[in-house]
Amino acid sequence: MIRTSGLSPTREGLLHDRWDDSQKKFHDDVYRSSGESDRRLDELEIHDDRPKQGVFGRWAQKWFGGYQTAERNYTDRKHTGHGSRAGKQKARGCCSRYKICFIATGILLALFLIASGSGVFWVYNTAPKDGQSPPWYPSPRGGTVKSWEESYKKAAVMVQKMTVVEKVNVTSGTGWSQDLCVGNTAPANGVGFPALCLQDGPLGLRFVDHSTAFPGGITVGATWNKDLMYRKGKAHGLEAKLKGVNILLGPSMGPLGRMPAGGRNWEGFGPDPVLQAVAASEEIKGIQDSGVIATAKHIVANEQEHFRQSFEWGLPNALSSNLDDRTLHELYLWPFAESVRAGVASVMCGYNLVNNSYACGNSKLMNGILKDELGFQGFVQSDWLAQRSGVASALAGLDMTMPGDGLRWADGKSLFGPRLTEAALNGSLPLERLNDMATRIVAAWYQLKQDNQTQWPPPPPKGKGGPNFSSFTDDKIGLIHPGSDDKTKAEVNKFIDVQGKGNKSHGLLAKQIAIEGTVLVKNLGGILPLSKKGSSKRKDAAAKYRVAIFGEDAGPGDGPNVCPDRSCNQGTLGSGWGSGAVDFPYLTPPLEALQSAFDSDSVEITPLLSNDIPVKASSSLLHNQDLCIVFVNSDGGEGFESWNGVRGDRNDLFPQKGGDQLVQKVARACGKGKSDTIVVVHAVGPVVLERWIDLPSVKAVILANLPGQESGDALADVLFGEVDASGRLPYTVGKSLSDYGPGGQIMYYPNGVVPQQDFTERLYIDYRHFDKHGITPRYEFGFGLSYTTFEFSNLTLTEQKPKSPLPAPRLDSQAAPPAYPSDLPDPSTALFPPNFRKLKGRIYPYISSISEITPGKYPYPRGYDQVQPLSPAGGAEGGNPDLYTPHLSVKINLKNTGSRKGKQVVQVYVSFPEGVVDTSTGDKIDFPVRQLRGFEKIELDAGKSQDIEIELTRKDFSYWSRGLGNWVMPSDDKFTISIGASSRDLPVSAQW
Ligand code: BGC
Repeated sequence: MIRTSGLSPTREGLLHDRWDDSQKKFHDDVYRSSGESDRRLDELEIHDDRPKQGVFGRWAQKWFGGYQTAERNYTDRKHTGHGSRAGKQKARGCCSRYKICFIATGILLALFLIASGSGVFWVYNTAPKDGQSPPWYPSPRGGTVKSWEESYKKAAVMVQKMTVVEKVNVTSGTGWSQDLCVGNTAPANGVGFPALCLQDGPLGLRFVDHSTAFPGGITVGATWNKDLMYRKGKAHGLEAKLKGVNILLGPSMGPLGRMPAGGRNWEGFGPDPVLQAVAASEEIKGIQDSGVIATAKHIVANEQEHFRQSFEWGLPNALSSNLDDRTLHELYLWPFAESVRAGVASVMCGYNLVNNSYACGNSKLMNGILKDELGFQGFVQSDWLAQRSGVASALAGLDMTMPGDGLRWADGKSLFGPRLTEAALNGSLPLERLNDMATRIVAAWYQLKQDNQTQWPPPPPKGKGGPNFSSFTDDKIGLIHPGSDDKTKAEVNKFIDVQGKGNKSHGLLAKQIAIEGTVLVKNLGGILPLSKKGSSKRKDAAAKYRVAIFGEDAGPGDGPNVCPDRSCNQGTLGSGWGSGAVDFPYLTPPLEALQSAFDSDSVEITPLLSNDIPVKASSSLLHNQDLCIVFVNSDGGEGFESWNGVRGDRNDLFPQKGGDQLVQKVARACGKGKSDTIVVVHAVGPVVLERWIDLPSVKAVILANLPGQESGDALADVLFGEVDASGRLPYTVGKSLSDYGPGGQIMYYPNGVVPQQDFTERLYIDYRHFDKHGITPRYEFGFGLSYTTFEFSNLTLTEQKPKSPLPAPRLDSQAAPPAYPSDLPDPSTALFPPNFRKLKGRIYPYISSISEITPGKYPYPRGYDQVQPLSPAGGAEGGNPDLYTPHLSVKINLKNTGSRKGKQVVQVYVSFPEGVVDTSTGDKIDFPVRQLRGFEKIELDAGKSQDIEIELTRKDFSYWSRGLGNWVMPSDDKFTISIGASSRDLPVSAQW
């Protein structure tokens, strides 16, 4: 029987709507402590004052007497998953008399041991609060929608023939580094189902040679260009396929970006659910059109790195994101819903708890919301070690465990594997659930046509397919099971170039994304675009125009791949760090690109690739410049790595490595303060620019986000106006971190053994927060300058369907899930085959003896025997199809009123009526001032205009009613539809 150590199998997550007193206390505690750090972080004086954190923070010092974390240990090429403790407090004090001293020390030691022993006992036995999420059982079976019907029929034929161990093989990873990909399943040989390779995503292919380092997700979001989003997915998917990857671990849409300093926000597309959803679903369509299974990750509310994972932060449990049903649906779930609607074949559940139930064991989340309400037909895989229980997780809807190990990294003690076999054979896990788990995975494989052996040749020994790279070595010949004791070697790296050639080169696409994801936010006096010949303003016509380029971020540093998973900030910043990062094939540094773009006959470039300008340089070099370009940056990433005190989540929003001082120094001294300074920022998210943005000589500022391998060339094209500046902010740039509100703050210190993070700001994150509280940002969501100007006019609204409160009733299923015989298999079929050679640490589905199968009384979760009513919001992939019925067509004319070709993003925002009261609960429903509901990027020649039509659906005009468990459209009053170039520049509006 599979049991989670220390966790009750009945623990469920709650999508609760009201805060009880203890939650309120947690909330107050969180905000009290974040308030403290706000004050420190938002001071505008420059000082390097980061929160000093050991792994346990202040709390740990109390309980563990000051033990500090050691930086993470590494295996050959990735994390082992958890840190180790090192260092001790210094012994203090002395005794005048040896004997007394000895006794006293003994007593103190005994007291200390008792106290710390009970402390440790308390810590390790404190379980998450139980019962905060309603149970939702049984797990809905896949195969209920038309578009998957054929795949399910084929899957049923195959699964029907599988033995129980084959079904388990399909659902269980083989263990960390047991095979060549970051995640691997074992085959079902008897029926011809292959081992599957799972690889990160989402910036490009992780641990893979000769593939493209695309710009980060946040840059893709900043393009606001649906076509580029799709093409990025298509190219990324094609590269994966050519490398033998079946399942890509991306795109990422959780974190959404509740906290601007969140370490992994850069992997996704920005903190607005609609922008995030459009980008994610376009990318999914692209990946899957290349034949690879995409993974929407990480469901849900996985918003910060601190305490994201059990044990990694010194605590036995991860943090719990506590949010109400409406916030969940209208913000954090929205991109997942659109991903399911786009047909995504896999979803990854996150590390965190959702309302005190682990996401990967939360039946309300996986069974109720994902599989019933959103009609998800693919399979749910766990994040790497996010699974925290066995049977309980399977019952709650988890279909595949990754990488296969158990509660600890590479421990070889799977919570599925042989335990799942045992549970199926002893009747604890209904066979129907195991069948559904395997069927969902096999159906996804058929859905993506991976059964086509010309396209997907089988792996050795049957064929030459499978992964042609190793995640664990760069050598051509390497171990085929690197994490085991098997010493068999083969050609593991075939160095196949998948980057595309000629005009199909993915580098060109990466460059286009970097270009369109570069946001020009300040351009005084039209200083940009620059002339390649320098400026005619040069005083001495015979002399060369002098340009100085400052900052480490302009240069190559020690190369882009010098730190594991890009977990250090050196050289120019092309990506954040963590599992979402890749080995760059190359990275064009900005300096190189600028040097080759400027005409060397008339321009003299002086580089100073350091953030510390020597005093001598300030007076001589700086004073003689006609133009100064300064590069600064701000880095962050996934929490299993840290750099310079940044443990994934950033400690503040300022530029790092003294970037602010650098800009100030340059701006004040460039041409003795009379020449122009241009600042370029590379960053994982918003950066506070206040320390220099208003300096008179800072004439232009470019937020280039994370540009990937084509960094320099893309930037040069924007700086010199080869293309329009067309990026728009996918987030708000606030004037301080505290301006983002209490909900925008990372919890750096745990507020309990199971840290509680309450999302009490509800819908009000990013621009919704700034708008509600009347806070003026430095640059608002959606903002960005072009080199030309645009005019919006002639707004017309055409009703396509009248308002009505509720969507049409849920449709019946369009197809029937496969049915299988229910007899329990003979346990002897699950025994290890005779003379079987077991590799160390590898997960096998077999049992050693029939005596292991002893039917027991499995303690089924609370509510397990109560069948849940189907959600009225469900009925098809993405939810009730009527939610996507267009109700209003918005037509607008856009005119390029400037003198050159350019691109504008037409942004449509909806403001809901005031005074709405929910009839089912009597709740007064408050709404954000406005919310993005649609957009389109348009290119126009100078003087040209175009009519643009954007359709808005029922869901766009609905709120989630917690009473009805459904979307409700307020139908009695008027909505305001505003159109323009950003969330605060909305020149035309009308009512419906
Ligand atoms: C990350 C996932 C990733 C997985 C495999 C985890 O640490 O959270 O996003 O897909 O590792 O590398």
